[in-house]
This record gives sequence, C-alpha cells and structure tokens, in this order.
Amino acid sequence: MTKQKFGAGIWHFATYLDRYATDGYGEPRSVLDAIALAGKVRDLSVVDINYPYFGGSFSNEDIKKALDKESLGVIGITPEIYTREFSKGAFTNPDPGVRRRAHDLITEACDAVRYFNASYVKLWPGQDGWDYPFQVDHGVVWKNSMDGVGQLASENPDLKFVIEYKPREPRVHMNYDSVARTLLGIEKIGLPNIGILLDFGHAIYGGESAADSAQLAIDYGRLFGMDVNDNYRSWDDDLVAGSLHPIELFEFFYVLKKNNWEGVWNLDQFPFREDSVETADHAIDFLKSIEKALEDLDIEALSEAQSKHDAIGALKIAQKALFKNI
Ligand SMILES: [Fe+2]
Repeated sequence: MTKQKFGAGIWHFATYLDRYATDGYGEPRSVLDAIALAGKVRDLSVVDINYPYFGGSFSNEDIKKALDKESLGVIGITPEIYTREFSKGAFTNPDPGVRRRAHDLITEACDAVRYFNASYVKLWPGQDGWDYPFQVDHGVVWKNSMDGVGQLASENPDLKFVIEYKPREPRVHMNYDSVARTLLGIEKIGLPNIGILLDFGHAIYGGESAADSAQLAIDYGRLFGMDVNDNYRSWDDDLVAGSLHPIELFEFFYVLKKNNWEGVWNLDQFPFREDSVETADHAIDFLKSIEKALEDLDIEALSEAQSKHDAIGALKIAQKALFKNI
C-alpha cells in the first residue's frame, strides 16, 4: 500500500467574512499567504485551489513557485462559479450570457488543472438551485444543470470533473443536493469523466450515511474524490474532522478501504476562530488514528457480524479498533 496522502482546500488557510463579521475574522490573506501557511502543516501533500486566485493578480507560474517552495502539489482546481455574478446560478442562470461566462471561467480553470497536472476540476454549483416555491421551472433548471456539466466534460475529455453535492447554502435548495440525485444526473449525462466528490459533512447533514453514499458512488464507478470535516447535522459547520461523528467517519473510511478506493484524504474545514495550521494538524492526526484503526479492525469478525445484521456485535468490533487508537 502506498503512503496515505493528505490534502486540504486552500481556503482552510484563508480568513473569512460572514454576514456578521463583515470586517472579516482576520486580516485578508492572498492565496500566496495561504500556501505559505499550508506549508507549515506537518503532513500535507496537496491542496485544492480556488480559481481565479484570490488576493491579487497571480499567474499559474507564481502559484507554482509558491507551491514548490512548500513541496505541495495540486489535487484540484475549484472555479468560483458561486460569486456575485453567479448569484442566480452558474449552469442554471436565467441569463444565457452568464451561463456562457460560467462555462468560460471553468474552461480557464481546466487549463490550470492541466498546468498543475491536478486530478480534477471541482464543480461546486452552490448558487444553482432555488429559494422559493414557484420560483423556477424545475425541469428546465435540472436540464441546464446537466447540460452545463456535460458540455464541459465533452469538450475536455482529457480531464476529470467532480461534482460536489450539498443540500443547501447558499441556495436554500441546491440542484445537486444528494448522492442519489447527483448520480442520476451524471448517469443521464453519460460521460466517463464526470464523478462525485463526496464531502462527508454534506452527506451527513443531508441525512445520508456517508458510508452508504460512498458505497453507492463506488458501485456506479463515480467516486472520484472526497473531503472530510464534521458538523452537528443541521448545517454545513465545516468543523474539524472526527470532532463530532468519529464512528461514522470510521465507517466511511472502512467502506473506502473495503472497496480498495485509493485517493487523497482531503480536508474541507473552515477554522473561523482557530489557528488554521493547528486545526489541520489536529485533523490529520485524527485521520492517522483512523488509518491505524483500519489496520487493527477485525474484518473477518466484522463481516461475520454484518452477515447477521448484528448491530451490537459489529459496533463492539468497530469501537474497539477505533477508540484504542485515538
Ligand atoms: Fe462544506
């Protein structure tokens, strides 16, 4: 087995605004500042970077230089198709001119993916959806959601596109809101280079079992990436991975291991008030405990318990392996 690689969204090392702290939770940082901080995390190999690059006007070469200094690679590029211009949607915007601009921005992001030799273009269509009853023609917006992604995937067959589904926020309802709906869309588009990026937190606050969602996406050959974090299950809190739902996180990783899914274990956390480097280190330490626990897990006994749907028997085996390693 190759050494497990850890990654993080570069936004983990940025500072944030919200509707309360409109002056931000810290001094603004550029993407270069964020890369320098990411470099201080003990065991981080790759980052997912927003495009365009935030906090200044930087070329791909500038970013590469900063990454090389910290020995970091790029796992994905996330085009910002959720900013003010796209507040009524990127793929589903009622204005075809805005839809075209979303397409053009993602096409530029594709070139960045090629430049950095990254694994995927990450699509997070957070503004594609609706807020009120009767606001949209549901058939039209769903068709546009699929057409927009399908066009990009067919124009760039050399690249992988991942859709990160999420139930809501910023839109009250997102079109790609769940594993099942996202798979339906991807299968309908019918191209091999579109997959799911499964965000553990999005799955659980959407009422899913992330382990079951992962199995479903894997069964369809569509699990292309993953993010981890945690939340209280009512909102996308993006707290530290393992802080609230360790046993479910363990089951999620167990499903990945059982299916020989190999890929980066990527953090999508928002440390509003915490030190971003310490937060990332803490999460990765926890993920390493999970890695050890997976080795300790008595898989034979677990399969036996599962074959009988023996809840307590299975939990005992899982808890024993996890809690002795934390
Ligand atoms: Fe999130």
